[in-house]
Amino acid sequence: MSAGILVRPERKDDRRAAEEVTREAFWNLHSPGCNEHYLLHLLRESGAFIGALDWVAEKDGRVAGSIVYSRSKILGDDGRIHAAITFGPVAVLPALQGKGIGSLLIRRTLEEARKLGHQAVLIYGDPAYYARFGFQGAERFDIRSHDNCYADALEALELSPGALSGRAGRFSEDAIFDMDEAAAEAFDRSFPPKVKLTGLPSQARFLEVAGRRRAR
Ligand SMILES: CC(C)(COP(=O)(O)OP(=O)(O)OC[C@H]1O[C@@H](n2cnc3c(N)ncnc32)[C@H](O)[C@@H]1OP(=O)(O)O)[C@@H](O)C(=O)NCCC(=O)NCCS
Repeated sequence: MSAGILVRPERKDDRRAAEEVTREAFWNLHSPGCNEHYLLHLLRESGAFIGALDWVAEKDGRVAGSIVYSRSKILGDDGRIHAAITFGPVAVLPALQGKGIGSLLIRRTLEEARKLGHQAVLIYGDPAYYARFGFQGAERFDIRSHDNCYADALEALELSPGALSGRAGRFSEDAIFDMDEAAAEAFDRSFPPKVKLTGLPSQARFLEVAGRRRAR
């Protein structure tokens, strides 16, 4: 399925290619256009960025997929702050999706994160995809969104058994995730123009999954 794919740490000279892949993968997916390539650009400069988990998938000498991780936390109900990590954006070039490249990138970097001693991964994503990697609804650990809601899209994975027991609280990702839309638009103009579309099924699916949340 994923023959000829090399999964390896990102090099500095891969960066723009990884941003292009991310832009292609997310364009019009969740909303008209996208800003995930700008998020990727910003994350690399953020103190929360985990350089050792910045990986790419390469096919025929070109970047075909990209994943990055950043430090995040759980603002514990017990008043303590618990460390976690978060991946994303994760992206594979549209023409190469569905061939196992994303799974390779995710599995390989989760293994690396475990080796590096990270305890738990928290992400926002579609449960239909991430359950295969062992992610469970964060509600199971009584972990809520920053605004204290149980969210189906908020998923958790323990990298060591029991890592999330007694870690109930609110998930908090790095402030860089709150992007400035105007700055994202300006950054996007450094790429070739692309048409923004509305009313796509993937956009409706995104809103549906993101909308599955309940106040505590
Ligand atoms: C998500 C992504 C990185 C997965 O990479 P990939 O190489 O296509 O994934 P794989 O080939 O390993 O797995 C394909 C499977 O994932 C499923 N899948 C991919 N994206 C999915 C999604 N958003 N929701 C549900 N399932 C998804 C496919 O339907 C396929 O399912 P199957 O194995 O049951 O047939 C890639 O599809 C992508 O870049 N998508 C656009 C960006 C994106 O959605 N990123 C994640 C945001 S949370």
